[in-house]
Amino acid sequence: MQTSVIIPAAGLGKRIGGELPKQYIEINNIPLLVHSIKLFDNIDDVESIVIPVHSEWFSYTKDLIKKFDCKKVKEITIGGQERQESVNAGLHLKAVQESELVLVHDAVRPFASQALLNKLIEAAEEYGAVVPALKPVDTIKEVSHKGYVTKTLEREMLIQVQTPQAFWSNVAVDAYEKAAKAGYRGTDDAALVEFNGYKVYFIDGEPTNIKITTPIDLEFAKLILK
Ligand code: C5P
Repeated sequence: MQTSVIIPAAGLGKRIGGELPKQYIEINNIPLLVHSIKLFDNIDDVESIVIPVHSEWFSYTKDLIKKFDCKKVKEITIGGQERQESVNAGLHLKAVQESELVLVHDAVRPFASQALLNKLIEAAEEYGAVVPALKPVDTIKEVSHKGYVTKTLEREMLIQVQTPQAFWSNVAVDAYEKAAKAGYRGTDDAALVEFNGYKVYFIDGEPTNIKITTPIDLEFAKLILK
């Protein structure tokens, strides 16, 4: 299937320190965003990549795309206040509208393997909505705002979800439209598809497909790259 990828990169998250939003931090002299873009270089189905960015970082990103010769990047656009709005901006771009399948991948997850991407695309062609996920190794509890545990969840029935998340493009566009109308906010893309009543399937994710959020994640990232 003709596949496009949205890599939302409009966050200003600086929890790692310094002035750079984390997607521009470099490992091995390559920004995380570029690592994430390059994951799709050799995935034949992927024809186009679009990148929602913060307006202040628009030309900086444009220069990076040129410098690192990211050929599949077809458009850079302005994202929104929240990740959901940034992805929504990507969904409206021509390259995505013309594709049959769309993958949404965090700019700060530079290690998804080629095998995972191929497995995900294959499953998405069949199921229409697929996420990679890991079974939690810790026990997960629900808590109250007052600091008490209110419930221990059944671990066998839980998954921790990663990106890329893959959808038939019409399924994603429809879900994002309905969510906007209903004022629904989800913490991942699949939540919007679920909200719209569509079944989401999951495949095994990868422990190395980490989301870089804190300084310790950067240290893990350097180890993974080695
Ligand atoms: O902040 P968080 O780690 O959840 O961000 C995940 C991804 O979403 C990052 O790639 C970040 O740049 C992106 N994002 C975005 N627009 C926002 C907030 C986050 O594209 N307003």
